Amino acid sequence: MAVTLTINGQTIQATEARSLFDYAEAMGIDVPTSCRKQGKCKECMVEVVEGMNALSPLAEPENHLKGNFRLSCQAHVTAAEGHVRCHTMRRGHMRIERHAFGLPIANREFKPDPTVTRDGDRILIDGIEIARSTGPLLGIAMDLGTTTVVLRLVDLETGELIADTSFENPQRFGGSEDKSRIAYDTEHPGRLLMRTLAGYLTHAIEKFPVDPRTIYEMVVVGNSTMRDLFFRKNVYSIGQTPYQSITEIEVAEGKRTSTSLNQTGLQSLLPIHPKARVYGAPIISGHVGADAAACMLAVDLAHEDRLIAVMDIGTNTEFILGNRHRILSASCPAGPAFEGGAIACGMPALDGAIEDVAVTADGSISLRVIGDVAPEGICGSGLVDALSELLRTGRMNDMGRFEDDIKRVTLYQDNDKEIFLLESDVNELAQAKGANVAGLHTVFSSYGINFEDIDVFYLAGGFGRHLNIEASKRIGLIPSIDSARIIQAGNTAIEGATIALLSKSKRQELEDLVKRVEHCRLETHPSFFEFFVEGCQFKPMEPMPCAK
Ligand code: FES
Repeated sequence: MAVTLTINGQTIQATEARSLFDYAEAMGIDVPTSCRKQGKCKECMVEVVEGMNALSPLAEPENHLKGNFRLSCQAHVTAAEGHVRCHTMRRGHMRIERHAFGLPIANREFKPDPTVTRDGDRILIDGIEIARSTGPLLGIAMDLGTTTVVLRLVDLETGELIADTSFENPQRFGGSEDKSRIAYDTEHPGRLLMRTLAGYLTHAIEKFPVDPRTIYEMVVVGNSTMRDLFFRKNVYSIGQTPYQSITEIEVAEGKRTSTSLNQTGLQSLLPIHPKARVYGAPIISGHVGADAAACMLAVDLAHEDRLIAVMDIGTNTEFILGNRHRILSASCPAGPAFEGGAIACGMPALDGAIEDVAVTADGSISLRVIGDVAPEGICGSGLVDALSELLRTGRMNDMGRFEDDIKRVTLYQDNDKEIFLLESDVNELAQAKGANVAGLHTVFSSYGINFEDIDVFYLAGGFGRHLNIEASKRIGLIPSIDSARIIQAGNTAIEGATIALLSKSKRQELEDLVKRVEHCRLETHPSFFEFFVEGCQFKPMEPMPCAK
């Protein structure tokens, strides 16, 4: 037999019926594992993008997997010939935003006042002894995203950043969107999603250059589904109208006073101190989670007199609008198109993704590719650029139709590879944009202000960080306001989580702030459909007449 096997971009000839894990090891690829190929830890998962039928049938330990996911220790290469292409869940090349930019200076100057303190060799949380040690007092801030996970290790006494790390969320085997993860968790008892993530987190924490048992506190932010799964809460209600976290329901029933969550290190299945406190920051609503709440802390909304907007564009786009006097929030399910999902040649922001597109004066197309390698597909920021350039050069009209009735535009071609944009892709992007624009108009209209009233417009998140602002304005993805007022702020959620970790007064500020947010339900706004239709067109976003 001779099957050409490609794992994480490296290729080998598979000549024996060995497992994908064995071959990965032979190539020096690090496969996550805690059970050494026993089929127990479920961490060695790979996604097979080609050649599934050249592998052995699903084994019993893989019963929890669907689609193209396999456990690499269970999947053996069995075909006589062919090509298998797969990658581990820790590809290592995904562009993950770990930092925040352009935030108010006040956030860099506050003095740590952590909940973890020491009295001689006694280590206390809120004054209660949990351990005895003279070692360091450390904590972790975590931004738990649907696609990516970011961890920061900090010294709780000095505020110093000791290390940080990031990886793709391995829960993708339960679906790439929150909706599918909710369905997966409901259908598969045993908290497999949480346990798999805990295995990955354990490896990440153990790689930090410290004794994990000196980590006494962790602050977790993430959307409501990710946060609640991590805290082993039932997430079913987030997927059903009126889309509420179980913690919101319990607050409404008087069973708890906050939507924030607490558990110990031991309950979290992590190698940190067993009595460490793991705090899940409060959420704003079922679809505006603890990550958005943490953003409010990062941009210092509690002390802002200026009008601030925060927009985090993603599969579920979140908006926050206001200042210390009044705050509105909203979310809209824009879908995965702007993250490359549902697009013929779309891909995440990995090496090989086209991230920048320009049509030159002679009509040729120039590209920039992440990792400076041959292009394999196009990611979200590349899609925005491509649409803007096609519009600017008249090759696409504002309804998203290509000139001369063609149905596809080729962006790149060599001997055996073509990367193109279909009119149907443009249609997907139009709908995603329409949802985002409708969300923005609804929130501004509910607040009674127009775009030009905004003093600072933060684009939060990895996608917002890498957007071309002028291209985004041209296609109407963001409002046409003065670019000097737009800040591509990056990962504001991890920044907010770090602030909440280092300061109990800031954590209380966050708890108070979320209770003051008025959540707008977009679908109930009388002009939502009108906003949506308007937003599906590729033209600069104008203020709607019903605002103000
Ligand atoms: S290595 Fe643990 S399940 Fe495969």
